[in-house]
Amino acid sequence: MSKKPQARAQQKNEEKAKTTAKEKEGEREEEEYTGKYVIEIENLTKYFGQKEEIVKAVDGISFNVPPGIMGYLGPNGAGKTTTIKMLVGAIKPTGGDATIMGHKIGTVAARKLIGYSPEHPRFYDHMTPINYLIFLGELGGLTCHEAEEKAFEILETLELEQAAYRNIVDFSAGMRQKMALAQALIHEPKLLILDEPTANLDPVGRAKILDQIKYLARKKGMTTLISSHILGEIEKVAEYVTIINKGKIVISDTMDAVKELYAGNQYVMRTSQNAKVVDLLQTTDYVETVWIDENGDIKIKAKDEAELKRQIPTILKKTKVTLDAFHRVTVSLEDIFMRVTGLGSFKMVTEKEGEEGEEAEEITWEYIESE
Ligand SMILES: Nc1ncnc2c1ncn2[C@@H]1O[C@H](COP(=O)(O)OP(=O)(O)O)[C@@H](O)[C@H]1O
Ligand SMILES: [Mg+2]
Repeated sequence: MSKKPQARAQQKNEEKAKTTAKEKEGEREEEEYTGKYVIEIENLTKYFGQKEEIVKAVDGISFNVPPGIMGYLGPNGAGKTTTIKMLVGAIKPTGGDATIMGHKIGTVAARKLIGYSPEHPRFYDHMTPINYLIFLGELGGLTCHEAEEKAFEILETLELEQAAYRNIVDFSAGMRQKMALAQALIHEPKLLILDEPTANLDPVGRAKILDQIKYLARKKGMTTLISSHILGEIEKVAEYVTIINKGKIVISDTMDAVKELYAGNQYVMRTSQNAKVVDLLQTTDYVETVWIDENGDIKIKAKDEAELKRQIPTILKKTKVTLDAFHRVTVSLEDIFMRVTGLGSFKMVTEKEGEEGEEAEEITWEYIESE
């Protein structure tokens, strides 16, 4: 009998030890998240309005964001901002789900992992960048000294250190955009979500800020999701790309894979006598179409790529021309975007040219807007 309270105390102690171990394990789990993806999105949906007025802003999207930098691309109104607002927990999904390093979106645990730069950043009046960043850094758990150090480091990288003690109210749109990025960075988040971070900048400023984002993301190992409707610039920064159009995902893959997919079976060739080579290639059964492009190069759409490559030496021999270049067509993100979003498409145009008797056919690709 007398042993009972002791046994109970021991049991309590054991339980306590267990909970502490569990808590520690939990902490460790968070530190060492081993999932393949930083963000996992499953059938995420957001509708605005009701009945006839319903806007399917995000319409059942699924994709994953691996560690690294992903461009989230789409034309205006595609659903980028709506997706991002759901990911950061600013609005509730109509359906579906998503997790940030295993934590459900909208939870405190998920939010803590994110640094978010909104599309239209707003700041409190009468605040200087340095005050604001130190304040946020401290909120994020840094000491005043650490926050100050980080704040200066970020302002320096973004070339805002000269404005550190100025009032944010007086900042230009571009400077505000940089401040939005700075505030997203101050607590060194695991995940950076940037909604059109280049929107208010001139082309030089845009290239610069993207370089800075890339530098910071790599240096700190932050996974970064950058939305943009300006495609060319994302190409140089992101290793992954997801394209959304009318609330639906059109493609999500590595930048290289997407380009490879859309380069398809097209080749560029340059020789000492292009017209002669075109004539010959036209008669073969491993070439689908062949034409001279606007740069004067030969463009070949192959029916049988392997055979085309095998036959190149024979063709050169037959035509007695020398080869200057032969390579696969490199497509820009812009090309892919146009094709996959259906904003337009490329139509083959055939034009008859030249004097009577020596009829040359010129084939070009013309961009047509879809109605
Ligand atoms: N609060 C809202 N109420 C009604 N419709 C909205 C709201 N927010 C966004 N939309 C609509 O949802 C669609 C997607 O918008 P958005 O996510 O902002 O696109 P993006 O960021 O790609 O330009 C658009 O048609 C937009 O008008
Ligand atoms: Mg937007």
